[in-house]
Amino acid sequence: MLRALVRETLLVPSQLILPIFVLPGAGRREPVGALPGVDRLSPDLAAELAAQAAAVGVAGVLLFGLPEEKDAVGTSAWDPDGPVPAAVRAIRAAAPELVIITDVCLCQYTDHGHCGLVGPNGEILNDASLPNLARAAVAHAQAGADLVAPSDMFDGRVGVIRDALDEQGFAESTGILAYSSKFASAFYGPFRDAAHSTPTQGDRRSHQLDPANRREAVREGLIDEEEGADMLMVKPALTALDVIADLSDQTDLPVLAYQVSGEYAMLKHAAAAGAFEFKDAYLESLLSIRRAGARAVITYGAVEAAQWLR
Ligand code: PBG
Repeated sequence: MLRALVRETLLVPSQLILPIFVLPGAGRREPVGALPGVDRLSPDLAAELAAQAAAVGVAGVLLFGLPEEKDAVGTSAWDPDGPVPAAVRAIRAAAPELVIITDVCLCQYTDHGHCGLVGPNGEILNDASLPNLARAAVAHAQAGADLVAPSDMFDGRVGVIRDALDEQGFAESTGILAYSSKFASAFYGPFRDAAHSTPTQGDRRSHQLDPANRREAVREGLIDEEEGADMLMVKPALTALDVIADLSDQTDLPVLAYQVSGEYAMLKHAAAAGAFEFKDAYLESLLSIRRAGARAVITYGAVEAAQWLR
């Protein structure tokens, strides 16, 4: 009991959020090769998984859409019948208590794979992209999302999305979880395979953070707070524990951390190679992210972790 008495950090299922990749259609399940144990699912099967997550105490899900159609501006991102709105409705029906968060970005919806519009010289157009991000956020809110999570890292998007939600009548019902301190990271590799969102040329360094910058990462979070975010996020997690700690100290908002695809895959592959037991290393990583100051962790093994923690 003495160890329990002096333990500083608790890790419980209600601090975990499960990302889900959503396909159009019904009855579809496709394993993601780069992410052991993770599947792309149609809305009906996503709702089944969400219900399982809710049953073991996981707090919420974060939805990523994989549309049938892509074009230069990402039109399918605000289709009210796209995979994300459909999954929001199905999950709401299957697990009413679960917090439903939707990723708002254009990279899965554009044929060039960039998070916004691209200019004639291949440059990413920040301001011109904002109305389209807002359209996507409103479509998710209309389907019933509790929180929309802009992950593009463009300047000014939190304010523009907040205004659009307020104008459309979602002032009270839909909040914003801002991917506020998102680094340009090699650890997103497996995700881009899962979400078919690797840019056809160029990279995301013009708008995502330089991994060298700790103070800038905190400042980006505080700007998103000013613009009206309800929660902030640091991403990746294990490579940014310092930023999680600094940002939690400096904001009154809840700070979440995203243990990204490459972090999860790294633990899975190392365990498969016999380096350690997956369960031990995985739970230690989640606990460490909580210890740094994250209120909750977004992680691909949320259901498994919740089962172990119960
Ligand atoms: C979309 C987005 C990405 C991730 C979450 N939202 C990829 C990227 O920015 O390239 C990465 C998540 C992960 O690696 O698990 N912008």
